Amino acid sequence: MRVLFRFFAATQCRGRSAVYEALSESVAGDDALLGLLLDTPGDQRRPSLLFAAVNLLLAAHPGDELSAYYAIHGGRRTPDERLVPAFAAFCADHRDELLRLLRERSTQTNEIRRCVALRLALDHVRRRLPGPFALVEVGASAGLNLLFDHYGYRLNGRQDPGAGAPVISCEVRGDPNGFALGTAPRITRRLGIDRNPVDLSDPDARAWLEAFIWPEQVGELATLRAATDLALASAELSVVPGEATTDTARLIGQLPGSEPVVVFTASLLSYLAAEARSAFVAQLQEAAAHRPVAWAFAEGPGLLATVGLHTPALNGPLSRRNSLYAVGVSLRGPGLRDDQLLALADPYLRWLAPARTKADDFAWLPSDG
Ligand SMILES: C[S@@+](CC[C@H](N)C(=O)[O-])C[C@H]1O[C@@H](n2cnc3c(N)ncnc32)[C@H](O)[C@@H]1O
Repeated sequence: MRVLFRFFAATQCRGRSAVYEALSESVAGDDALLGLLLDTPGDQRRPSLLFAAVNLLLAAHPGDELSAYYAIHGGRRTPDERLVPAFAAFCADHRDELLRLLRERSTQTNEIRRCVALRLALDHVRRRLPGPFALVEVGASAGLNLLFDHYGYRLNGRQDPGAGAPVISCEVRGDPNGFALGTAPRITRRLGIDRNPVDLSDPDARAWLEAFIWPEQVGELATLRAATDLALASAELSVVPGEATTDTARLIGQLPGSEPVVVFTASLLSYLAAEARSAFVAQLQEAAAHRPVAWAFAEGPGLLATVGLHTPALNGPLSRRNSLYAVGVSLRGPGLRDDQLLALADPYLRWLAPARTKADDFAWLPSDG
């Protein structure tokens, strides 16, 4: 776990959250704080879970010294020598509640910036298959990505004409000249599947989702709240409980119509062990026996390298660049199979680098992106 916190500080927090970077490094060296996670189920023992549990409790204790470091709670203080003692004191004061949350809750995020990956994938699918499409997201959380065509997009500071709110910003790296997203296709239905769906009508569930917003991310919190409001007002959206490895084909099979189904996954594969990843891909293949299925993904390259995609670039050094996500599409259907990587991106889609060729291995992209 020590290693996990150090890795988290170096790969996720640096340049993004000075507060979590300092806290991750201090937790890594503190047996009492690490010990808080000991009763947490093994696959949930993640730095993000500890920080979310603290953040949730902090929202209910706005006067605590620790709040002063959380801009999302109105704080203005930058990390200094009091941050770590304030965090340790808060954890000690709320130990029982924290332990309960860490035992009972699981990681829950819904990052709508990843809709940029979905838009890129849909542009690719449209060049191969006529729309409209049914859209399914597996590992959908609250299903906010399913409303991708209701959001505005600002790429390299240029905003889509006619875009709505919330607005998603993304930097295009590498060769941004002329890069633009196509028009969003018509979506016939929107279905989310999640082992543990977030019910946005439950204030507790919304608060838990918001607890995963980082201390400095005031804009992200506003974006999440705007997307949540849209989802609550939407009659089109449904997220059903389901297990990626056993329910995906059946739930796709229940969709009416025969239009192609775009199945989006973003940050799902890291939750699946090797056998489960193969089982999920087998579900996609099973669904594709009945109607075309386009698997649009934003996932770690090393995990994608294990699921039999026909993308030679994943057999090389790209598969070790796991602090980034590969964005791509695997088209499957009767007589149809075409896999392609479209971009390499930051896992939160703050930036993406479009592929320069069909077989791009992104060796040209510096290691820090
Ligand atoms: C990191 S969140 C990503 C949510 C959303 N795709 C996004 O990009 O914001 C991963 C989601 O996958 C769900 N999940 C994990 N394992 C799953 C499984 N085996 N079957 C279905 N959903 C799963 C979790 O409950 C969680 O909501």
